[in-house]
Amino acid sequence: MTDSLVAAIDQGTTSTRCLLFDRAGRMVSMAQTEHRQHYPRPGWVEHDAIEVWRNVQRVVPRALRQSGATPSQVAALGLANQRETTVVWDPRDGTPYARAITWQDTRTSALVAALRRGPHAETFRRVSGLSPAPYFAGPRVRWLLDNVPGLRDRAEEGNALFGTMDSWLVWNLTGGPDGGLHVTDVTNASRTMLMDLRTLTWAPELLATLDIPPAMLPEIRGNADLGTSCRTLLPGVEIGAVLGDQQAALFGQTCFDAGEAKCTYGTGAFLLMNVGQHVVDSAEGLLPTVAYQLPGEVATYAVEGSIAMAGSLVQWLRDSLQMIDSAPEIETLARSVPDNGGCYVVPAFSGLFAPRWRPDARGVIVGLTSYVDKGHVARAVLEATAWQTRDVVDAVNRGSGLGLRRLKVDGGMTSNYLLMQCLADVLDVPVERPMVTETVSLGAAYLAGLAVGFWADLQDLRKNWHLAARWEPEMSAARRAREQVEWGRAVERAYGWSP
Ligand code: G3P
Repeated sequence: MTDSLVAAIDQGTTSTRCLLFDRAGRMVSMAQTEHRQHYPRPGWVEHDAIEVWRNVQRVVPRALRQSGATPSQVAALGLANQRETTVVWDPRDGTPYARAITWQDTRTSALVAALRRGPHAETFRRVSGLSPAPYFAGPRVRWLLDNVPGLRDRAEEGNALFGTMDSWLVWNLTGGPDGGLHVTDVTNASRTMLMDLRTLTWAPELLATLDIPPAMLPEIRGNADLGTSCRTLLPGVEIGAVLGDQQAALFGQTCFDAGEAKCTYGTGAFLLMNVGQHVVDSAEGLLPTVAYQLPGEVATYAVEGSIAMAGSLVQWLRDSLQMIDSAPEIETLARSVPDNGGCYVVPAFSGLFAPRWRPDARGVIVGLTSYVDKGHVARAVLEATAWQTRDVVDAVNRGSGLGLRRLKVDGGMTSNYLLMQCLADVLDVPVERPMVTETVSLGAAYLAGLAVGFWADLQDLRKNWHLAARWEPEMSAARRAREQVEWGRAVERAYGWSP
């Protein structure tokens, strides 16, 4: 049998996975490998791009082996990736000039603070949709140009290519030094602070402000417009789609209509609402971003509320405080008490992202008394994720004019039923989890499959979305209002802690 599967690569913050899906959108096999996190200085978080590419080369054949499929049965490959993580490499031999600077890295804070104070802050916001923040890729490119000896000269000669992880992987998949394609897609480009969000082209005035040589930049393509095949790894298989992982999850959750939203709970949490074919401005502290662009169509946009820490706070409890042995144990611990005992945790480890954007904030635990035990802290940790989502949902409702009526969720933390109930309680809307929660990979597979005719249209994809679990709000309005005030007070304590 030929063409019975679509493959997806999900190159995420902590791991790289390959998943295979059948026509019903069911996962057939999955292989995963973690890569090392490098923390060379406080606030710095790096990945070795070579290690990441090696992991891609490992997981793809493993997923195929597990499924018993051959490459000839793969109709197309979709690629989704951690966004904003920045690589600059030498196209002559594929060597990165430095380790990749990840989206969590805050080393560009001073540069960004200067941009925010300077005359161009408003131009960045108006053109790219983004107010300067250390989260985005553009300032990282500038940092590398300023700090890697000789890099600026190499870039001006055309011997240094910039890309987010998508560009790096596509370049390697299409031949690397031997003619690799240097491209990115509209969703990843929309996170650089360098792209005009309306024309979907690089903005010369923003490049000039950051002094980034245009020769370094990849060509921007629509999400399913690569029109090229793998030359390595899956030779001959078409790279049907490339998109940022959170946009992929929105697509995998089949949020194709304006007003539909999803939140993915991984390392961080990312809530995206489809807002249709027009950019919705970032006045409420949300990020206007490209959701996807189908071949021959105009772009569909989203607003995004990015939360820097969600699952990583649970990991911190496990690895740094050793309060639990495994992440799922947090639910048992939190269930050992009826409420948070007055304790609130604000996980502003790398500042607060949406909707507050306070790089000066740092994590705090407040409300401690002798009564508070491990169970209360565990509960407060879970509640922090729910309340951060509530802050984002309030901003989305105000900013989009489209009231959120239900939230589709996915990601590792959605197996925590206590958290999901807490989320429905604080959001005051139903929370729904689909059967296939691997929505990042599914979204990349869906787009790739659409590109090659494996699936006919969006309607075909919608039929594959099946509800697995639904949580209804149970908390009283009075208690919700009280808790929201307490959460807001705790957040204010986090402001200004960074030196
Ligand atoms: O913006 C960062 C985001 O794309 C990272 O997602 O799932 O790899 O942590 P994840």
